[in-house]
Amino acid sequence: MKRRSIRKYADRPIEEDAKKAVLDAAFRAPTAGAMMLYSIIEVEDPQKKAQLAESCDHQPFIATAPWLLLFLADYQRWQDGYAHFNVEEAARQHGRQIRQPGVGDLMLACLDAIIAAQTAVIAAESLGIGSCYIGDILENYEIHQKLLNLPRYTMPIALVCFGYPAASEMQRKYTPRFDRDLVLFKDSYRRLTKEELERAFNADPEAVNAAERNYLRKFSADFSFEMTRSVKKMLENWQQDFSPA
Ligand SMILES: Cc1cc2nc3c(=O)[nH]c(=O)nc-3n(C[C@H](O)[C@H](O)[C@H](O)COP(=O)(O)O)c2cc1C
Repeated sequence: MKRRSIRKYADRPIEEDAKKAVLDAAFRAPTAGAMMLYSIIEVEDPQKKAQLAESCDHQPFIATAPWLLLFLADYQRWQDGYAHFNVEEAARQHGRQIRQPGVGDLMLACLDAIIAAQTAVIAAESLGIGSCYIGDILENYEIHQKLLNLPRYTMPIALVCFGYPAASEMQRKYTPRFDRDLVLFKDSYRRLTKEELERAFNADPEAVNAAERNYLRKFSADFSFEMTRSVKKMLENWQQDFSPA
């Protein structure tokens, strides 16, 4: 309940045993079929951190994070294992169709990566270490692919900054959430009524409503177009020569 995103860090490194505890927790996170369809890159090289601060929508604080973890959706390890053990031969003998990882497999790998990331975030929080996700890692795929040597069946999903919070961060108000009844439904989905839309997006009638604010600041901003372009590239790369089998 005390977690909030932390973007300014105290001048204090994260101890090695604290990092280990956070990673231990992440590695114990649930994972689809116990396959661990993710990898984690610790980005330590200051030049690479600076590049990410630029290519993730110009957010300088990324380069100041004492610990930077990139969670990748990763089917490459299993693909390499399948190739190493020539499993296609066994599959043919069993009359199975040969296939490549498809978008379903990718979605599962994304879930694994995100669950590991969020487990790390909560574990860190329990040790007093703050964190902040960087969604803009979905942008500039080609740059990140090259920078981090990402093979075909990996996808950068969650970049997370970690660090002990600067004192000023602890003064900030918690960001509000939608009222629970607008988000939590019973038994089936329910579209919001006009009154509920007012409640959701127009809590402060004095200010511009949150829908308009969001559309102008985020949804129609350049970075949103870049994110969609970049993710399309990721999907094309993942799916090239994809056989629907
Ligand atoms: C998927 C995801 C992407 C995010 N990307 C960014 C980001 O690029 N830069 C940033 O400063 N915060 C980012 N955040 C943090 C959100 O802005 C933050 O969680 C939200 O404003 C709610 O505030 P709180 O986490 O302090 O409760 C991201 C959070 C999530 C879950």
